[in-house]
Amino acid sequence: MIIKINNKDYDLNIDPNMPLLWVLRDILGLTGTKYGCGVGDCGSCMVLVDSVARKSCILPVSQIVGKSITTIEGLSSDASHIVQKAWIEAGVPQCGYCQPGQIMSAVGLLIAIPKPTDDDINNAMSANICRCGTYSRIRAAIHIAAKG
Ligand code: FES
Ligand code: FES
Repeated sequence: MIIKINNKDYDLNIDPNMPLLWVLRDILGLTGTKYGCGVGDCGSCMVLVDSVARKSCILPVSQIVGKSITTIEGLSSDASHIVQKAWIEAGVPQCGYCQPGQIMSAVGLLIAIPKPTDDDINNAMSANICRCGTYSRIRAAIHIAAKG
């Protein structure tokens, strides 16, 4: 099957039921997308599927054929994406483990709602858990990114 990741096509001979997260990390070496719970509960594996944030650990790879996937590596090669810059400005990360997933959810939110309210942010980010409790800085960073 042919899948498109970060604007590049990959022709892979793999089990169509394999979760996308396994394909990204174990087959393509794109380890920026993190394995947390593996059952759809934490959001650390979030990627964009046609600009919408989805949990890649519970997404069979067959379901993304014909769609465009963006991982954290696809945002920029040098942390220059506007959301990554806002994350740095707000000093968001603590241990960092959840942060790629948080950033991908934030990017998806800002594509859908360029000027989100706090409620919009809370709703959109509710699928992402941070054991370090960086939620208030995440909210601040999203507002910084929304200002452009
Ligand atoms: S690893 Fe996918 S939701 Fe936790
Ligand atoms: S920064 Fe540590 S889990 Fe979120």
